[in-house]
Formats: sequence, structure tokens, C-alpha cells
Amino acid sequence: MSSAVTQKSLSAPAIRAMKGAAPIVCLTAYTTPMARLLDGHVDLMLVGDSVGMVLYGFDSTLPVTLEMMIAHGAAVVRGARRACVVVDMPFGSYQESPAQAFRNAARVMKETGAAAVKLEGGAEMAETVRFLALRGVPVLGHVGLMPQSVNALGGFSARGRSVAEGERIALDAEAIAAAGAFAIVVEGTIEAVARAVTARIAVPTIGIGASPACDGQILVTEDMLGLPVGFTPKFVKRYAELAVDIEAAAARYAGDVRARRFPGPEHCYGLARTA
Ligand code: KIV
Repeated sequence: MSSAVTQKSLSAPAIRAMKGAAPIVCLTAYTTPMARLLDGHVDLMLVGDSVGMVLYGFDSTLPVTLEMMIAHGAAVVRGARRACVVVDMPFGSYQESPAQAFRNAARVMKETGAAAVKLEGGAEMAETVRFLALRGVPVLGHVGLMPQSVNALGGFSARGRSVAEGERIALDAEAIAAAGAFAIVVEGTIEAVARAVTARIAVPTIGIGASPACDGQILVTEDMLGLPVGFTPKFVKRYAELAVDIEAAAARYAGDVRARRFPGPEHCYGLARTA
């Protein structure tokens, strides 16, 4: 009998049960190698539609397709053993009706093997969240700054800075939590709003640009690694400067090739050995 320990991945209910316990650690991932590197360190890996801006060079997340999310979702699931993998539903794949959302979420779950999906929206999406949750699709909500609404909001600036807008975010989070979301991302808001939301809902809040008052934190991994696509938001802490390292490595490689220092003898194949 094998003595190997089978690693069990964290489920959506396991993440929900972390409310009020240790902070929930989350990062984005879009590829198998990155998922392998992050898996031992995070509780939840989000295959965010930020992939469109980070890897494809789009100005917003709006052009991202369901096919792109499925391809990246499946790649991340292949690299994850322990973390709960959640795949973003892209713009236009769920807003039309609960039936449309279920049809597309079911494809994501079947074709990626992910544990859950994420969708943006407040009270107006509560019926859809309930429809999915009751039919076997765990949903991570997303309130506050919602990047898929960039055209309606007029930009990516922080939300909830007025009392009325802060209360609106709290009501949105309450509606999504009551509808059955297992956790809610709270993006781009002030600490007082994040604190109120976290106190008022029974499921964990995962903050991004939303202060330490949340039950967990998430960042876009490339931002955290200093591999920026231009502008770095105020709320990002950089834990590495990979863009600098990559440029320096490319410059060294170019210098070696031009000076014929690379490849060296140790990089070249020799004759086949004869017995
Ligand atoms: O798309 C994404 O990466 C996200 C996170 C930033 C929360 O939604």
C-alpha cells in the first residue's frame, strides 16, 4: 500500500469557514508554472480577467473572452494542488440572465476543473448568484470598484468615499452574501467601508486596495512581483523587481550573443559515445 499523502485542495466551503480566523491569502495566476510556484503559499488562486490587461495588453478587462478564461483556468488548475482555484467570468458572459450565467459557469467548471467562479456586481446580480449557488456553482462575489464597469463608472478610481456610496457597497455585499456567495472581493475602497462590510456579512471579505480591515487580501501577482504593465496602483506592495531583473538578463544575453560568448562549450552537444 502506498504511503504517499494525497494533497486535498481547499474547497469554496473551506474558504468560507476561514471567516474570522487567520487572514486568507490570495493571489492571481494565469499559467501552470506560476500556479506551481504560488500553490504552497496561498489559500486561493484567482484566474482573474485581469489576464487581459496583464498578459494580452488590453486597456481594460472588457475584451477578455470565455475561451481565454477557460484556457487559463485549466492551465492554473493543472499547476495547483492545495489552493482553491477560482475563475473569473468575463464581461458579457453572465450579466444577461441567470440562465446565461449558469450555462457559461458550467462550461468553466467542466472544462477547467476549478472550484468556483467569480463575478462582479452588487444587488442587481443577487438573483444570478443565488441561481448558480443553488445549482452547484460556488460563487465568489466582487463589489466596490468593479473593473468590468469601467465605462459606466468613468474610470478605475476608488469607490465608497461618500457616505451614500459606502452604504451602497455594504448593501451590495449583503445582497450577494445573502444570495449564497462563499466570499466577496472588496476592491478599491476606504477602510471604514471595508470594516463595515466585513462586520456586516457572514462570509469572508477579500480586499484589494481595501485596507487591512478585510478577512483576506489579494493582489495581482505580476504587480506584487514588480512586473508591471505600466501604472502601479497605490495599494500594491512590490515584493520583487522582476522587470528590472528581466531587462538586465536580456541585456546580458544580447551582449553574450553579440560577443560570441554564448553558447559556450558546455552548452554544445558532443559526438555520440561508442561502446
Ligand atoms: O481580475 C482580477 O485579477 C481581479 C482581482 C484583482 C480581484 O478581479
